[in-house]
Amino acid sequence: MVGPEGNRRASPQTRRHRLRLPDSLRPDADLSFFLGQALKRPQSVSALAPSSARLAEAMASLVPAGSGPVVELGPGTGKITRQILAHGVAPRDLHLLEINDDFVTLLQERFPEVSVHACGAEAMAGLGLPPLRAVVSGLPLLSFPVPLQARILRAAFRQLAPGAPFIQYTYGPAVPVPPRLMKALRLRAIRRAVIWGNLPPAQVLTLHRHVA
Ligand SMILES: C[S@@+](CC[C@H](N)C(=O)[O-])C[C@H]1O[C@@H](n2cnc3c(N)ncnc32)[C@H](O)[C@@H]1O
Repeated sequence: MVGPEGNRRASPQTRRHRLRLPDSLRPDADLSFFLGQALKRPQSVSALAPSSARLAEAMASLVPAGSGPVVELGPGTGKITRQILAHGVAPRDLHLLEINDDFVTLLQERFPEVSVHACGAEAMAGLGLPPLRAVVSGLPLLSFPVPLQARILRAAFRQLAPGAPFIQYTYGPAVPVPPRLMKALRLRAIRRAVIWGNLPPAQVLTLHRHVA
């Protein structure tokens, strides 16, 4: 008979549940590849694991429906890329900008119909794209020096269609761009979600330019 405490013996299913890791840390080929790159280039990767599926979905869901190109900055192994495509963006409309050659090779293999550009985010203007529907950024903006943040945001807002969002996640509690730069570029931030299950927990926000 089961006592007042009930049957405390965990079934195999319960045990599996208790041991559940955040999905960004479940062992798979992406995790070890990403970790290898993070150890090789800690400055530019600035994370120990790729984004979780939840975080990637939250980012992709903020891309407005419609037409026009979408640029993803710092796609890494393509966790967010996959969700942007699942969200309905046509592969021909998606442009990935990545500075790490090992990630570039992987992305080209994984997404043969998507344009993969081996260049820094700050070179966005050189692509000659029509006004952008959205920029989705997996860049570690918080760890970038302010002049580099400024170059990237200037380039992005020069390319974005009026009112179009710059979608960003950050591991910090605040907006990852200092207030003086937000003001200089006439930007405002809208907090969209907090993904507690990501490792580390991440905040998703969109940046918009004030229109006079
Ligand atoms: C934190 S990882 C994010 C990877 C992926 N978006 C994800 O969420 O799993 C940052 C990525 O930005 C790339 N990166 C860093 N600086 C960059 C720059 N200036 N231009 C383009 N990509 C950059 C890194 O190589 C890396 O792939």
